[in-house]
Amino acid sequence: MSGGGWKQAELAEPAGWVSGAPIRVAMLGCGTVGGEVVRLLREQAADLAARVGAPVELVGVAVRRPHRHPELGELLTTDASALVTRPDVDVVVEVIGGIEPVRTWLLEALKAGKSVVTANKALLAEDGAGLAEAADSSGADLYYEASVAGAIPLLRPLRESLAGDRISRVAGIVNGTTNFILSAMTASGSSYADALEEATRLGYAEADPSADVDGYDAASKAAILASLAFHTRVTSADVYCEGIRHVSAADIAAARGMGCVIKLLAICERVPAGAGAEAVSARVYPAMIPAAHPLAAVDGAFNAVFVEAEAAGQLMFYGQGAGGAPTASAVLGDLVAVARNRVVGGRGSRESAYASLPVQPMGAVPTRYHVSLDVADRAGVLAAIAGEFAQNGVSIAAVRQTGDGSTVDGSARLVVVTHAAPEVALATTVERLAGLDAVRGVESVLRVEDLGRKGAGA
Ligand SMILES: NC(=O)c1ccc[n+]([C@@H]2O[C@H](COP(=O)([O-])OP(=O)(O)OC[C@H]3O[C@@H](n4cnc5c(N)ncnc54)[C@H](OP(=O)(O)O)[C@@H]3O)[C@@H](O)[C@H]2O)c1
Repeated sequence: MSGGGWKQAELAEPAGWVSGAPIRVAMLGCGTVGGEVVRLLREQAADLAARVGAPVELVGVAVRRPHRHPELGELLTTDASALVTRPDVDVVVEVIGGIEPVRTWLLEALKAGKSVVTANKALLAEDGAGLAEAADSSGADLYYEASVAGAIPLLRPLRESLAGDRISRVAGIVNGTTNFILSAMTASGSSYADALEEATRLGYAEADPSADVDGYDAASKAAILASLAFHTRVTSADVYCEGIRHVSAADIAAARGMGCVIKLLAICERVPAGAGAEAVSARVYPAMIPAAHPLAAVDGAFNAVFVEAEAAGQLMFYGQGAGGAPTASAVLGDLVAVARNRVVGGRGSRESAYASLPVQPMGAVPTRYHVSLDVADRAGVLAAIAGEFAQNGVSIAAVRQTGDGSTVDGSARLVVVTHAAPEVALATTVERLAGLDAVRGVESVLRVEDLGRKGAGA
């Protein structure tokens, strides 16, 4: 073993059966996650060898700025392309992130028969099919547990444990930054801007928070979850995505008034598509959920995913969705799995896309709305507003009015909660309400999710 301060020979002998030739690992990236992977590989070398049946040996690490990693000595390289195709490499662990040049490197590795372990949700959500095809062609493993919900074992349960069941819905909180912000707004009544500032100060939000607060990170994860759950290729472009920037303190208070909380949800479900056919819906947006639902209690930077399956019923997966060590735990779990497969000379289970269900456009997805309107407080207003809902085929579940005409400007606040209707009908209704004389402004529009409702496949 060569390479700086990392000397496997100095570590204790493995306790169990270790007879195989070493499994040689190349790492791409050594940042927040990669640094923890290297630490755990080193500290747990003897146990990992016993679990795999062969030593797991780090033979190279590609980074951008080698001077920042003096502890890795001769293991370092800046030539990732050469590293992933080295003949002595068995497994490539990718913890750099982004689409290119990482996609090219991973395709090169898979074509050369190396197994790949990656935490790269953006790449898998954009081109999981390309990577899976390359893995199938060469018979290599492609594992990516760390790409969704950090430490939480979720993809393997979907791909393996639930392979005999029929999943109807996967819905959850898969972005810790936005959950931290919404939890802070709920706990203190603070504005979105103040909660974001606190999240940034505490290191929960990046200097540029767009990928998190605009929902793109959660949309990538939704694409991966929907693909696995419904045996269908779903990409990030198929996922309807809305972030949390527009959620106000008034929305949070309105949710509380209804016995609800607001969470940024990733929802993947089977939906009816007419004539007995089915489609997949994958979407991300802030929504009101009942305060009594288990997802409502998931606070701060934690993640939780609720899975509903025909035979298994309801399952919930909860834990740390990000961070160096938690994410490294998932990476190492995959590394042990693919290393074991190498030792016994086989290949692990892989996802399938045989169902090829169509993805339903957002306009056709049945949702419920909570609409707050600033209206003129005079006779006939309620009838005019109810008429708009009726014209678009949207049935009203509840109406609440505040204001009694004694306000200085004669305005009132009207809150309308609908029954489920196609999104396009709800959106058209809101657009038309905004044009009514009696409506001074549409203050907020939030979706209400009935997570207990049965999906199409349940
Ligand atoms: N952080 C988390 O909590 C978390 C959670 C789940 C999944 N992930 C995923 O894990 C991956 C890594 O995230 P991270 O937070 O560890 O990122 P990070 O801290 O920014 O580390 C990125 C690493 O990649 C290296 N790198 C960047 N560009 C490179 C290039 N062109 N060639 C070679 N090396 C390059 C960097 O090298 P230098 O060190 O020399 O700059 C650094 O070591 C991403 O896909 C991310 O989505 C992260």
